[in-house]
Amino acid sequence: MTYWFNAPGLREMAPLGSTTGARGLSSTLFVPRLFIGVNAIPEHGGGIVNYIAPLCARKKAFIVTDESVRTLAERVSNSLKTRQFTTEIWDGAKPEVPIANVRECADAMIKFEPDLIVGVGGGSVMDLSKAAWIFYERPDITDLTKFTPATPLNLRKKALLLCVPTTSGTGSEVTSAAVLTDDVGGRKMPIASRELFPDFAAVDPTFTIGMPPKLTAGTGLDALAHAIDCVTSPTSNDFTDALALKAISLVFKYLPRAYRDPRDREARLKMHIAATMAGIAFGNAACTLTHSLGHALGKVFHIHHGVAVGIFIPYTQQFYSVVTDKYVDVCKTLDIKGRTNEQKLARLVGEVKDLLESIDLPLTLEGLGITREQLAANMKKLVIDSLEDPDTFGSPRWITEEQCEKLFWYTFEGKDVDF
Ligand SMILES: [Fe+2]
Repeated sequence: MTYWFNAPGLREMAPLGSTTGARGLSSTLFVPRLFIGVNAIPEHGGGIVNYIAPLCARKKAFIVTDESVRTLAERVSNSLKTRQFTTEIWDGAKPEVPIANVRECADAMIKFEPDLIVGVGGGSVMDLSKAAWIFYERPDITDLTKFTPATPLNLRKKALLLCVPTTSGTGSEVTSAAVLTDDVGGRKMPIASRELFPDFAAVDPTFTIGMPPKLTAGTGLDALAHAIDCVTSPTSNDFTDALALKAISLVFKYLPRAYRDPRDREARLKMHIAATMAGIAFGNAACTLTHSLGHALGKVFHIHHGVAVGIFIPYTQQFYSVVTDKYVDVCKTLDIKGRTNEQKLARLVGEVKDLLESIDLPLTLEGLGITREQLAANMKKLVIDSLEDPDTFGSPRWITEEQCEKLFWYTFEGKDVDF
């Protein structure tokens, strides 16, 4: 199976993108219209719905969700009905967004003919909404594995997209990407297009109250990985730095609180804002190796995305430090002091590890329950999948197969990266 991100030309160009030469090039900042806070989308009307209603002539909203958060989708449905929307709730979203599931969702969408698509759920639900939207608008596109970020989609001829996240982490409500799972290879297949930035996002923390602690930890760590990756990526800029650095400080302060007390409303609000800020940041810059390695690890060992990417934060920061000192900005944000940059980096790594421990997550692959034998047996696949992952393009330091294998072993043992 050839994926768009394996095209030879793109792969040859990729190392150029991961140099500091990318800095200073003109950049863009795409942001959906955001409503943030407990009244972003109130059940009895008002908030974001007042702004969306005049833009939808036929007032037909198709709400994509899954069974676990159907009651939250009903809240959104009730809110839309106050402005004369007819709604249909489709709760068949499956985890990891298999392409067959996208087709199924799109078929229901095509039947209903909405002029508003609403994704109410975590990252998978919002990604599914984006992908099904493509099939709905473009019946001529039948294979999502073939379209590249440069393929014109001409969306919005039929519907607009509103995202309502129910977890605080993926940032999909503000990004142009969707991560799908290929039916044939079972591999993660990210798709991206500037046209996939949602039109609206309702960032309402009441949609996350009661999220279980384990999910709070995993998704919160995903937000931290997005933000830290983004700061160190050569495609970052002053706008994305401002958002990512603020997100980092919010995660450090509020993730342990949200984890300990799921009903802590202030912590929920701040984590929801942090995830969206990190999403805008990396959505306009890049994620890097935490995500390449994490995607590969998560698929082989069936580990939650946020945990799989988050565990690599300390090790990748050490790996990048040979070519960038951007981690010093993260240290400044977290008020981490030191006489030398090396000292600051060591303390930052310590702080990240402390954060992981405070939310009961392990610091090593061994701590995740992976054995030495399992890691060795799967190493070839882990390395190939990591190097072929599109997030590798965003890395400030190009990585070889040998270095990639070493990074997995160092993360297995919890060793400081010294190469
Ligand atoms: Fe992520």
